[in-house]
Amino acid sequence: MKALVLAGGTGSRLRPITHTAAKQLVPVANKPVLFYGIESIVEAGVVEIGVVVGDTAPEIRAALGDGSRFGARITYVHQPRPLGLAHAVRLARGWLGEDDFVMYLGDNFVIGGIKGPAEDFRATAPDARILVTRVPDPTRFGVAELGPDGRVIRLQEKPREPRSDLAVVGVYFFTSAVHRAIEAIEPSARGELEITDALQWLVDSGHDVRAGAIDGYWKDTGDVTDMLEVNRRVLADIEGAVLGDVDATSVLVGPVRIEAGARIVRSTVVGPAVVGAGSLVQDSRIGPATSIAEGCAITGSDVEYSLILRDARIEQAGRIEGSLIGRSVRVTGAALAPRAHRLVLGDHSRIQLAS
Ligand code: G1P
Repeated sequence: MKALVLAGGTGSRLRPITHTAAKQLVPVANKPVLFYGIESIVEAGVVEIGVVVGDTAPEIRAALGDGSRFGARITYVHQPRPLGLAHAVRLARGWLGEDDFVMYLGDNFVIGGIKGPAEDFRATAPDARILVTRVPDPTRFGVAELGPDGRVIRLQEKPREPRSDLAVVGVYFFTSAVHRAIEAIEPSARGELEITDALQWLVDSGHDVRAGAIDGYWKDTGDVTDMLEVNRRVLADIEGAVLGDVDATSVLVGPVRIEAGARIVRSTVVGPAVVGAGSLVQDSRIGPATSIAEGCAITGSDVEYSLILRDARIEQAGRIEGSLIGRSVRVTGAALAPRAHRLVLGDHSRIQLAS
């Protein structure tokens, strides 16, 4: 079995972070979302991985390399324009050959991995197998309707009136039958070749398409709220470790990971939380559910339930919560200045000011 990882897309809901960084490389607990996906593919025994890349190709390539750091062999497939998930499979057709494969959407996060579903696919050998999970708002996803025996009988893509509350997770197991389906379908109303339509074609032409419930937690990390929530879930399982320096006046509460070269000075860090290599936390309170990446400086501030990306500086900023702060951002308080906000914000930034 091979794997096809989709790492194109513009990440419009994560702007402005995605103006300068691929959405799949935004870190969760200081590790890019995409790495968790690649690791779970390798854990499922799949090492031949094709990665479909678009505009952010150089950055994705720099991060993943040839795959050897994951114990995998990575081949890149270029998708010049995001014309749909099934279009990505069509571009990779030559590389995939007649092999079975798992398609993994690079912004999806599956706690618990995909080893179990991969074993089910191998053991039961259907023509395709999807993963589903119950969600409160199915209109945001592909939606599956299942027969009593777990066969898929109907799929809808982001339906206004969903026929079930089973969302299609972004991890799909296919045999080469999917290539015939993709040749047969037409672009959807939004101009994309939908994998949902390819699956429906398989169902309608009498193929065995199965669905299995996902074992654990799943999130399609589309926006900031999703990223913060995934970060919280991942941090919940970390083990505390102090590899950097924590001075005698600082307090660590609960599972806290202080990476090598990080310094905690006159501060409290409430876990779960991680402070990345070389970062300084001084006269501050961090956490819970907070990841501080490498090379940051947080001084005189209180940061909770947030993701702070590398080389950011937060100084005398008061209390920050529920925030995603990008790379090399500077946030500073100005206690003595007149009551006014001075802002230099990138395009598509969002800011909420406590007036
Ligand atoms: C895609 C699929 C959708 C699926 C979702 C899972 O949507 O089209 O069926 O439920 O991934 O993440 P997109 O993320 O492209 O909106």
